[in-house]
Amino acid sequence: MPGDPVIKAAGLTKVYSRGAEEVRAVDGVDFEAFPGEVAAIIGPSGSGKTTLLNMIGCLDNPSSGSLVVGGRQVFGAGPLSERELTAVRRELFGYVFQKFYLIPTLTVEENIMLPGAFYKAPGARDAYEVMKLLGIERRLHHLPGQLSGGEMQRVAIARALVNSPKVLLADEPTGSLDSRRTDEIREILRGLASGGIAVVMVTHNLELARSADRVLEIRDGRVHKAK
Ligand SMILES: Nc1ncnc2c1ncn2[C@@H]1O[C@H](COP(=O)(O)OP(=O)(O)O)[C@@H](O)[C@H]1O
Ligand SMILES: [Mg+2]
Repeated sequence: MPGDPVIKAAGLTKVYSRGAEEVRAVDGVDFEAFPGEVAAIIGPSGSGKTTLLNMIGCLDNPSSGSLVVGGRQVFGAGPLSERELTAVRRELFGYVFQKFYLIPTLTVEENIMLPGAFYKAPGARDAYEVMKLLGIERRLHHLPGQLSGGEMQRVAIARALVNSPKVLLADEPTGSLDSRRTDEIREILRGLASGGIAVVMVTHNLELARSADRVLEIRDGRVHKAK
């Protein structure tokens, strides 16, 4: 369906050295993500999913390969400065980490507003707006410790949305949720894609992966299957 990919990775590779041994955590992966689509990265534990997602999100630099994000070559040409990389991260991406990283002493509203203290995008939204979008607005003044797992997951998603990202990256967004909550998160991600952003998630949940527009299956760092 859509036109240009917002993410275009080619031959993305990450090699770690463990003593004398080399670990090719990600090995020559090609991947594209498009606005309006949900993409799922699946594969066994240790297959390189998180490493790949972190490179796509410009949080980790590849050993080799190229990455173009929003038409901008980030890796594979001359290196971007730290400052330029920071701008790409802020302007293009929203990140939902596996462990949420909510600050326990701040309210939900404060947690959501925190990224805005450092950078406010032109299309930035306020906490109430994104929380309403995710159906958790009545939790605005609660502390993270007062929320259920599903609610915390939504707060983490809400926080990733305040700066109106073009790409939402989520590592195991339903990792700790039961099947009803998983369905709800799936619908939320689908709705966000309908709004025009690209959603890229890592998941163990095959049903969730089946509902994606694009699936990349990796094993031992290599593409096993792509659809
Ligand atoms: N910082 C690191 N240093 C060395 N090896 C790492 C590092 N991060 C990940 N690895 C290794 O890379 C491989 C892929 O890890 P990861 O991307 O976390 O897999 P997944 O998310 O699919 O479980 C694993 O063998 C892991 O041990
Ligand atoms: Mg992982």
